[in-house]
Amino acid sequence: MYNILLKQLKIKKTIFLLGIFSSLLSTVISLLIPILSKNIIDAVSGKNLSLSSFSNVILLFIFQAAASTVSVVSLSYIGEGIVGGFRIIVWEKIISLRIRYFENNKSGEITSLLVNDTGVIKNFISNKIPSLITSVISLIGAVIILMCIDYKMTLLIFAVFPILLLIVLPMGRKIKHRSQQYQQELSEFTGYANQIISEIKLVKYSNSENYEKKRGTTQLNSLFRIGFNLTKIESLGNSLILLVMTSMLICLLVFGAVRISKQEISTGTLLAFLMYLLQVISPTIIILSFVNQLKSVQGASKRVIDLLELDVEDLSKGQEINIENQPLKFKNVNFEYDYGINVLKDVSFEVQPKHTVAFVGPSGAGKTTIFGLIERFYDLKEGDILFGNHSILDVPIKNLRSQVGYVSQENSLLSGTIYDNLIYGLRFSVSENQCIQALSQSCALEFVNLLPKGIHTNIGEKGTKLSGGEKQRIAIARAFLRSPKILLLDEATANLDSSSEEVVQQALKNLMRERMTLIIAHRLSTVIDADKIIFIENGQITGEGKHLELIKSHSLYKEYVESQFMNVKESQSYS
Ligand SMILES: Nc1ncnc2c1ncn2[C@@H]1O[C@H](COP(=O)(O)OP(=O)(O)O)[C@@H](O)[C@H]1O
Ligand SMILES: [Mg+2]
Repeated sequence: MYNILLKQLKIKKTIFLLGIFSSLLSTVISLLIPILSKNIIDAVSGKNLSLSSFSNVILLFIFQAAASTVSVVSLSYIGEGIVGGFRIIVWEKIISLRIRYFENNKSGEITSLLVNDTGVIKNFISNKIPSLITSVISLIGAVIILMCIDYKMTLLIFAVFPILLLIVLPMGRKIKHRSQQYQQELSEFTGYANQIISEIKLVKYSNSENYEKKRGTTQLNSLFRIGFNLTKIESLGNSLILLVMTSMLICLLVFGAVRISKQEISTGTLLAFLMYLLQVISPTIIILSFVNQLKSVQGASKRVIDLLELDVEDLSKGQEINIENQPLKFKNVNFEYDYGINVLKDVSFEVQPKHTVAFVGPSGAGKTTIFGLIERFYDLKEGDILFGNHSILDVPIKNLRSQVGYVSQENSLLSGTIYDNLIYGLRFSVSENQCIQALSQSCALEFVNLLPKGIHTNIGEKGTKLSGGEKQRIAIARAFLRSPKILLLDEATANLDSSSEEVVQQALKNLMRERMTLIIAHRLSTVIDADKIIFIENGQITGEGKHLELIKSHSLYKEYVESQFMNVKESQSYS
């Protein structure tokens, strides 16, 4: 992560240098002021004060203020720039992660990582680092001058540094741990809230409002406790540091007074010394609290760092091919989502170009998983999937996915208009006429024309303003526009009532024409029309053939057809 941040830094080198330079300038001036004041005071005591030395000091004050403003502004600009770029990097990373990541993490938690965790880093970089830089510069300058003025008293100051470290280091460890915990809880809460809000209907019809109120409150309270604890540790530490520093100041005052009385130093010298001392104290506090902040950011940013280390999908690696007119082959495919649980076991089958293959089998058998593998949502464990002689592992994922059309029972639509949804992700431009043609092929034009703004009607988040059948037909129209080389239909009409099922079925038939189609069937007529049926149970293929062959040879298939399609007569009349 630090490499990434540093890379961003290089881009804005000039502004960064300006920031550092003006910060140096401002520090040097502020270091000059006590010396000049010393001269004024000694002059007052010697009664030979001149007006010019007085106005010089005021001029320097003005200069210093200007330089320090320039430095703060430019360093913060750098900070903000780095952070902005950093969020973009995190966002791009998230988008390119594999599907598995999104299945294992709640969407709200991922959002929280993108917004909250990077926010912590942002605060740190744009506020804390600039003040650290100026503090270090002024601390070094002040210490050097102090040594020149009076090394004995300066050594006294150094004596307190080990004490300060004893306070700060153990505190830092606690803070790191706590803030990691805080960020974790915050993200869990965001994930939880996100889920409840998006499933609010379920909450309402289950009468679970009170239950969810309590669950949320518990989480928020625990968040409050951790946050409060963190502040307590920090402020306790800061008070201790201040206490040590003040004690040192008093010791120095006494020591200085003794030396004045012995006439070893002048009053002006002691005063200058004390002014420099102030210039040591405040940067020291800033630097020490920076150590704590650093720990806190390390804790909070652990999740971001973990994220940045994850593997991403390489979308363009491999040799592009055209999968049209190539047979699809599964060769001894083994696959598991989670270690040790084999979901597909030694699955082999072949689909000829332009053929339709229906997958039939109990729920949980692994049918959808087969589709996921063709789309390369997941990586195979063993075996191979080929188009012709090309393993899909050697085809760029982007190239592969652009040739595969996927229609499932729950099709995702985005908020926006129908037109937006149709053209989403297309790499070539399509005219409105082409969209209308696609809608007509997918039997959707009729209802779209009835909408107030036709194709430009807004369909709400996830397309909630449309019915299930209508959404499905929009999804099919999208597939038409892409004209995929092969089609994957995953129970595409399963959620529909019979009248809309009929229309969608017709739309699908249009789409399937002249294309290799793999279809997960839940309807007998699809099964009967297929060129081949593959019966799959528990991750294994146990039967393959035409409907009539399977009815004869595969007793489980026969049983399954009879029970699953609930229409014994229909199946018998075909057999
Ligand atoms: N994303 C996933 N992560 C882990 N296990 C999964 C995932 N998707 C499906 N499974 C499991 O894999 C098996 C096959 O699922 P699936 O292919 O969806 O079955 P089908 O489509 O035949 O109903 C099931 O036991 C299911 O629990
Ligand atoms: Mg399924």
